[in-house]
Amino acid sequence: MTDVPLAAAHAVDRYLVEMLVGSDAALDAAVAHQRAGGLPDIEVAPTSGKLLWLLARICGARRVLEIGTLGGYSTIWLARGIPDGGRVVTIEAEPRHAEVARTSIDRAGVGERVDIRVGRGADVLPTLVDEEPFDLVFIDADKESNTLYLDWAARLGRAGTLVVVDNVVRAGRVADDADDSTQVAGVRAGLRMLRDDPRFTATALQTLDAKGWDGIALALVV
Ligand code: DHB
Ligand code: MG
Repeated sequence: MTDVPLAAAHAVDRYLVEMLVGSDAALDAAVAHQRAGGLPDIEVAPTSGKLLWLLARICGARRVLEIGTLGGYSTIWLARGIPDGGRVVTIEAEPRHAEVARTSIDRAGVGERVDIRVGRGADVLPTLVDEEPFDLVFIDADKESNTLYLDWAARLGRAGTLVVVDNVVRAGRVADDADDSTQVAGVRAGLRMLRDDPRFTATALQTLDAKGWDGIALALVV
């Protein structure tokens, strides 16, 4: 197999973004606000943001759970993918990130649809048990907790809920036996759970985009 020329892959990503995703002021402002606030530069790529929007539309999602708000970039995409009266509940452990996200989400005009819960997923998720089930769950937080988040995704979802897990490839480290980082261990444990836990059926795709080489898992709660 020939090596993938990285510069060409990045050029393709720019081409696809220009061709099919485009840009708009609210999303550009969210990224700029996040950068200005010194938040990590790890929001999803534009192609993945639009994928989240499409998945919400395809599922007919009204209730979305996001674990890991960061600056609200993916939250805005998800909120745009649900109808009026729908809700994105998004959990963020870092109060400063939640503040930055709140501003960007409100500026994007979807503030009424977005409920930011500040706290660790492990503490916030159990408070959601009495709410209506979520139709789509996006897991994009500390990778060490992926199995905990998947367990809650199944508990807070229903048969037919779509679960998306970000960062399952980590520049190939997921399949590198020499990698013994806690993050990669968390990613692998999540993938094993998607294989072994009868509540899920799943696949995963590699991505090579503005954020480098990574991937997403897609799972159905059965
Ligand atoms: C990291 C986390 C993410 O969610 C991501 O999309 C990229 C990188 C990280 O913790 O390094
Ligand atoms: Mg991520």
